[in-house]
Amino acid sequence: MTETTTRRTSPADVLARDTAPTAHLAGAGTRHRVLSGMQPSADSLHLGNYLGALVNWVKVQDDFDAYFFIPDLHAITVPQDPESMVRRTRVAAAQYIAAGIDPERSTLFVQSQVPEHAQLAWVLMCMTGMGEAQRMTQFKDKAAKQGAEAAGVGLFAYPMLMAADILLYQPHGVPVGDDQRQHVELTRDLAQRFNARYGETFVVPEGFYPVNGARVYDLQNPLAKMSKSAASPNGLVNILDAPKVIAKRIKSAVTDDGTEVRFDREAKPGVSNLLSIYAAVTERSVAELEEAYVGRMYGHLKVDLAEAVVERLAPIRERALELMDDPAELDRLLARGAAKAREVASPVLADVYAKVGFLPPAR
Ligand code: TYM
Repeated sequence: MTETTTRRTSPADVLARDTAPTAHLAGAGTRHRVLSGMQPSADSLHLGNYLGALVNWVKVQDDFDAYFFIPDLHAITVPQDPESMVRRTRVAAAQYIAAGIDPERSTLFVQSQVPEHAQLAWVLMCMTGMGEAQRMTQFKDKAAKQGAEAAGVGLFAYPMLMAADILLYQPHGVPVGDDQRQHVELTRDLAQRFNARYGETFVVPEGFYPVNGARVYDLQNPLAKMSKSAASPNGLVNILDAPKVIAKRIKSAVTDDGTEVRFDREAKPGVSNLLSIYAAVTERSVAELEEAYVGRMYGHLKVDLAEAVVERLAPIRERALELMDDPAELDRLLARGAAKAREVASPVLADVYAKVGFLPPAR
């Protein structure tokens, strides 16, 4: 799904769905569920995380029974410093809340505090073909970075753990950016495979992708997606960056030949990226923005965009930093979330274990 230029504002409209609603939704009267997560593998979330996922999480929490978690088990598929992990896990939670996730309404938790994730992952790994897992492009990219031989088995098993994260909660929607599309597809395949082999068990979830911002590109290299592991930080906008840094990075974004502010991913990747970001941040359509910049220069667009992004991110940064002042309170919220998450995950895992043929739990 590529960006469209339609202006969409209601929660149902801002999310593009890939597939028709699944046939076996939860019973009448049940609020449909969504689930998603972001790895705690950097000191801050970036603008891609924010526009690709977090903005939509905030939108869907009104209409869905929402589960948002911090996949720390996923983060250790590449080497992590233990102290940084602790800090980054809390800082991720702080940013979720600062961006608008309400821990009273949504269930907010850390993956490693819910052991059912790793337990279900094993069952799903045993149902995944080697070839199927080898086709995952994110695995191929990350393994190539480390050298195929050095890449850990965890990196290979990563998509099956993600499938477990999702299927344990029977969500109907998974609000993520475009780069997670293949993982969501694998999750759907595994759910269908399990259901076919052992009887109806899992809801087959849909990916929910934003209309604008599903793929935010690096400001210095608009052919690569914005990523925490970029070679240079100059193409990255972090939620926790100081406003001055954010403005500078946007104003120094590479643009393209010519002068016309027009969306054309092939011919004008730099300007197209800025337009999509602008559209996502202001909830205006790309077409409307193109019109507003007729006869104006790239520089004008950058100045306005820098202002819009700073205006949007600065309050989130401030609130997140405040929340980080009380790590004990964050830990308390997360522990409460984990207990709530287990209430859902534990019976689903028990059902799976029984269906697979494991003896009942030893008492
Ligand atoms: P992660 O931590 O890499 O990214 C978190 C979310 O941010 C989105 N995203 C982007 N969106 C637009 N443009 C970008 N440049 C960009 N970069 C990242 C991602 O699509 C994602 O939605 N495997 C997941 C974490 C995960 C998960 C899950 C997600 C583990 N289990 C279960 C959903 C459900 C990941 O690595 O995302």
